[in-house]
Amino acid sequence: MFVVVGVSGGVAAYKSVHLVRLLVLAGHEVHVVPTEDSLRFVGTSTWESISRNPVTTSVHDDVAQVRHVALGQAADLIIVAPATANTLARMTAGLADNLLGTTLLATTAPVVVAPAMHTEMWSHPATQHNMATLRARGVHVVGPADGPLTGGDSGPGRMSEPDEIFQAALAAVPGDADLAGLRVTVSTGGTREPIDPVRFLGNRSSGKQGAEVALTAARRGAEVRLLAAHVGDGVLMEASRHPRVEIVHTGTAVELQDAAVAAAVDADIVAMVAAVADYRVAEASDEKLSKQGGEGLTLELVQNPDILAGLVRNRSPGQTIVGFAAETAHTDDELIAKGRAKRRRKGVDLLAVNAVGWKKGFESTDNELLILDADDDVVAQVRGSKRAVAGALWDAVLTARQRTRMESTDGSLSLPEM
Ligand code: PMT
Repeated sequence: MFVVVGVSGGVAAYKSVHLVRLLVLAGHEVHVVPTEDSLRFVGTSTWESISRNPVTTSVHDDVAQVRHVALGQAADLIIVAPATANTLARMTAGLADNLLGTTLLATTAPVVVAPAMHTEMWSHPATQHNMATLRARGVHVVGPADGPLTGGDSGPGRMSEPDEIFQAALAAVPGDADLAGLRVTVSTGGTREPIDPVRFLGNRSSGKQGAEVALTAARRGAEVRLLAAHVGDGVLMEASRHPRVEIVHTGTAVELQDAAVAAAVDADIVAMVAAVADYRVAEASDEKLSKQGGEGLTLELVQNPDILAGLVRNRSPGQTIVGFAAETAHTDDELIAKGRAKRRRKGVDLLAVNAVGWKKGFESTDNELLILDADDDVVAQVRGSKRAVAGALWDAVLTARQRTRMESTDGSLSLPEM
């Protein structure tokens, strides 16, 4: 996982050195984001050597990499330890004048805080009000423990021990990295088939749905190859920053086929979300075509290879292949019927049947689809953000793989032991 550890200015910062070490030893990619004040307790060199990554506190460093939001976007988990009364108040207010603040505002990952302060500060109604607000927003709170404090006094306010924070933080991550250890190939975007050096046949795919499918797989622990045909501006930004996503750029259907065949060799799962042109111009002109008087223009088109069908024909043992089908339909029954016919034609294990129209499916932020399994049963019907749709797709893929495993072990379908 990609873990960000925020450190605010309390003496308990020294304990977070051990927390970072535990995370690194567990194989996580750890980035420490200290506040300026916290550097009086533990310095940059310690964090850099323990986390094995560069450390900065300022939103003005590494501006070209958009660092002020990049860490938050890439994070699978953010831990703030110690979380001082001041930092908790700033989180509640959504202040963003340091790197920790912007990182916290830019994330959708689970956030875990480990408060540390004197008992009076912890009990103060302002702090308690802030904690209630943060909890209501879904922030996970570990501690504080009751025990000796820095001033010699004792009471609630002591930061929890690193092992406890480590366990609680991992437990806060949804899905428990259920795709860890799997290699996944996802295609996205629309292919462009050249007519001449300045024109092409294309489609409206923005690449958003495929980027979310790839990113969600990576967040759930998979190693992902994202084969990108033409996509909209900025669509690949988050995926490109994720340490487990490798992006391969392609253009035409034939280029995408080459990349897909190569990537599928060692993939456990292939999901073809890309909108691939069924036809290309038989012979693209090297010269720009010019208008021929008042006459029309006839282009000869030839069929492109069916990449998905080819992948199914040559699949390796145990590989799961997922197709997407963009369909216009007036009713659910029509959508399902079109989907079933296409699933059988392509021979895929799962088909996400995407209801599309002038204003839905392509380019939009939200999506609506149903998922057919290898028996042509509708196993999910999803409507929501493309990220939510991606989550439901991966749930369906895992269920299908589990079912296949059970069938191949027994020769018949059996229920798992409870
Ligand atoms: O990119 P967005 O703007 O976010 O929009 C998302 C989407 C609507 C493009 C996406 O959710 C979707 O539905 N993708 C599939 C679009 C499509 O091309 O459907 P199809 O019915 O033409 O193709 C069926 C399947 O065969 C697809 O998995 C496609 O990748 C594959 N195919 C198609 C043609 C071809 N020559 N080779 C293929 O492999």
